[in-house]
Amino acid sequence: MTFYKSEDYLMILKAISEVAIIAYTDKQGRITFANKNFCEISGYSLEELLHQDHRILNSGHHNSEFFKEMYQALLSGKIWRGEICNKNKNGGYYWVDSQVFAIMNEDNHIASYASIRFDITEKKRIQCSILQLEKLASLGEISAVVAHEINNPLAIIELVSKSLLNEMKKEVPDINHVEVKINKITKSTNQIAKIVRGLKTISRNGNLEDFSEINLKNFMVDALSFSSAKCRQNEIFLKIGEIPDIQIECRPDQISQILLNLINNAQDAIWTNKERWIELSVNSDDHLNILYINIIDSGEGIADHIAKKILDPFFTTKEVGKGTGLGLSISATIARDNGRLYYEKKRNNTAFVLEIPMYQGKLVKKN
Ligand SMILES: Nc1ncnc2c1ncn2[C@@H]1O[C@H](COP(=O)(O)OP(=O)(O)OP(=O)(O)O)[C@@H](O)[C@H]1O
Ligand SMILES: [Mg+2]
Repeated sequence: MTFYKSEDYLMILKAISEVAIIAYTDKQGRITFANKNFCEISGYSLEELLHQDHRILNSGHHNSEFFKEMYQALLSGKIWRGEICNKNKNGGYYWVDSQVFAIMNEDNHIASYASIRFDITEKKRIQCSILQLEKLASLGEISAVVAHEINNPLAIIELVSKSLLNEMKKEVPDINHVEVKINKITKSTNQIAKIVRGLKTISRNGNLEDFSEINLKNFMVDALSFSSAKCRQNEIFLKIGEIPDIQIECRPDQISQILLNLINNAQDAIWTNKERWIELSVNSDDHLNILYINIIDSGEGIADHIAKKILDPFFTTKEVGKGTGLGLSISATIARDNGRLYYEKKRNNTAFVLEIPMYQGKLVKKN
């Protein structure tokens, strides 16, 4: 281990303060110092910032739970790390990757707080445009499937309505017959409604979506309705394991988008195989507060030299016009928000795992 002299540490600190956005606050969170980078990015002069708290930069992007979590971490002596969206003096938004920590006095009580931040606005902007690109790319494919899927129940409704009208014209309509027809119409309209719900989930801009509490079982039925339809069309068996009937707190649109990407990939991979199935299973670790969503397909895994690149943006093994190579990189980016997505090599078949916390703010970090 190398030990540095205190002068070296001072040099390191000087170098960090050249590139980082640094601020100190007192115990009440009022700014007592801000470096030149802080003033530049926020648009405020040091005088304007002094004695203000960080609410002066509040963009309204994060909910109160987000800040509560940060203060809880700081009060318990931990370093808080996260990405924050701030608003500058001109009303523009900027993103910073932040580390905030408490500085203790000799009695080991909190004396003040310090924050070191780095500007990641550009990274966020690129992530956002990649998300938009992905949606455009899948639009054509989605339209084709939707048209096909909605046409079937529509044709049924048309046919059954005609026969219902004929029945009603009879002197004594057969009530049982009428009931059967009405049930058929209801079933078809439900099918259309399910597809529309699934589409709404995909098309919403999940990027800024808030966390909401949902029933996992009901959510999965909606989220998988589109994929189930596509699998049926492609004669792929979509096995859905037992889904726990529990409430979870998540960003549902984002999870739906990830599942859609994973199932699309699985379909593409096993398209020409003799054995064609995709299995979705869910298990949880209540102690770690983690939900594991496993998507396994009948493929035989991904070769190492490909597997190491699959999360790279624009990496694809598909022919031109078929894949953009964005699906997994976007899914992994979304998942990283507060979980993770990975390819699980050790299984016999091709397996991806999506890990998400079941409840926000209660995640126990694994070592
Ligand atoms: N289930 C899978 N089985 C085998 N290979 C896979 C599987 N999922 C992903 N891959 C590989 O990873 C690559 C990258 O996947 P990704 O979803 O990022 O892009 P894509 O599917 O090629 O294009 P896009 O999703 O943008 O239409 C794929 O081209 C494929 O080679
Ligand atoms: Mg894909």
